Amino acid sequence: MTELKEQTSIAERYLLNFNTEEIPFEFYDVVIIGSGIAGVYTALSAPKTSRILIITKETIEINNSVLAQGGIAVPLDQHDSPELHFKDTIYAGAGLCNETSVKVLVTEAAENIATLCLYGVDFDRDEGKRLALTREGAHSVNRIIHTGDATGREVCDTLVSAVSVLENVTIKECTYAVDLITENSETKGVLAVDVETMEPKAYYAPVVVCASGGYGRLYSSTTNPEVATGDGAALAFRAGAELMDLEFVQFHPTVLYHPENKSFLISEAVRGEGALLLNVDGQRFMPSYHEMAELAPRDVVSRAIFQEMQKTGSRHVYLDITHKDRAFLERRFPTIFKTCLSYGIDMSRDYIPVAPAQHYSMGGIKTDEWGRTKIKGFYAVGEAACNGIHGANRLASNSLLEGLVFGRRIGKQIAENLEEIKKSFGIKPKIKYYRKSSKKINDPEKLKRKLQMIMTDKVGIMRSRESLSLALNEISSMQKELEGAELTGINAMELKNMVSLANLVVKAALFREESRGAHYRSDFPVSNDEVWLKNIVFGGQS
Ligand code: SIN
Repeated sequence: MTELKEQTSIAERYLLNFNTEEIPFEFYDVVIIGSGIAGVYTALSAPKTSRILIITKETIEINNSVLAQGGIAVPLDQHDSPELHFKDTIYAGAGLCNETSVKVLVTEAAENIATLCLYGVDFDRDEGKRLALTREGAHSVNRIIHTGDATGREVCDTLVSAVSVLENVTIKECTYAVDLITENSETKGVLAVDVETMEPKAYYAPVVVCASGGYGRLYSSTTNPEVATGDGAALAFRAGAELMDLEFVQFHPTVLYHPENKSFLISEAVRGEGALLLNVDGQRFMPSYHEMAELAPRDVVSRAIFQEMQKTGSRHVYLDITHKDRAFLERRFPTIFKTCLSYGIDMSRDYIPVAPAQHYSMGGIKTDEWGRTKIKGFYAVGEAACNGIHGANRLASNSLLEGLVFGRRIGKQIAENLEEIKKSFGIKPKIKYYRKSSKKINDPEKLKRKLQMIMTDKVGIMRSRESLSLALNEISSMQKELEGAELTGINAMELKNMVSLANLVVKAALFREESRGAHYRSDFPVSNDEVWLKNIVFGGQS
């Protein structure tokens, strides 16, 4: 697979002024940014003799992994195999997957699930006490293990309990990672601020793992929590890491569409259990879009719904699972059942109004199959990373698995290099950075909302040169406004990160003059393998 490298200048290396001679500091062997499944599992996989710090912007349980409903893909069924899981992942990825990384993912899946079971994760079991397997879109067999419809919550709670008792791991909540500190292109630690006091502090470490999640909050309509503002990708880019596949943004087909809630996920597992999609005229439409009908790859289903909504002039379609009895639905989907009921929708009797919304960022910090980036000592894992396993469209329930498999691999890297890592303990870099700022940002929240509307309207499920060019103009002027602006609060720093990243997402979407996976260009509606079997990569300068 070749790459198209785009050099984009990085005007401001750090978002804050600081002098390493003056600011408070602490030393660690490893700093992990983010407390989702990828961050916590990496900490658990690293040697117990390494001093690890996990920092997280909010409290430890606020992250995207916790919200994962469906489950974790793992080839356990007698009719399944890593080869078949590989094939399905590659098919969903529409030609852009990195095959080496996908092989790692599928062959190391089962051993990591066994580890989760040892930690005590309580997955649903069948009558024979084997892990119960369900189906999701584009999987050719039943392959998804789950805990009801709250798999992310169960896995995260269990792993957080396990990591919280480790003496070698310190957890700092409400700590915002502003920038990666580097010297001579090597990792030296993380510049962070306390979210309450805004006091800066340096956490020095020769190894930093970015597990800060994706950039879903670039969109107004998303299933992601508020913390998903793409800070990890933005700070990595400023430090000289590469970002890849940013144009591939996954829209989940079935997100609740209710006046009071347009971000609650209705898991693909509901379709896995037989739910059908109907347009507002009550007609089933998926069989005319794809042979796998409701279980076609996610990008296909989202686009089909979008088209049906356009055809019928409606803002939603319906999901119908009324053929299943109430007791089954309450048991299999307790969270979804209860939440729908709280909005007056009894899914055993009523159709659920749903529409697509942003759900997952395929692009991120470019890594190899060991989580390594271009910067020595800097790793990325989970949704923050892009190791090529998702290609142009992520296969359902491969994301928690990615956090596990590659988190463990980073843990192995840390173990292998521990002696070397420890030699750097106590060595402070000499950096004095001054960023001239001459103006204030008025109402960063309002500007965030403006950006989210631009991205939703012009860089959504369907894009074109026209919509993307309009978006680029508006985002470029926001970027100019932010140049040299004082970044006094978390909101302002998030805004700065979001605008920088949005600019790259739009540029990548403009470059890719074809349709592939989650990236659909109405002006280039088909894939062009001759020209576009390549990844678009930004950055790499420090
Ligand atoms: C879902 O439950 O539909 C989400 C699973 C995923 O995003 O992989």
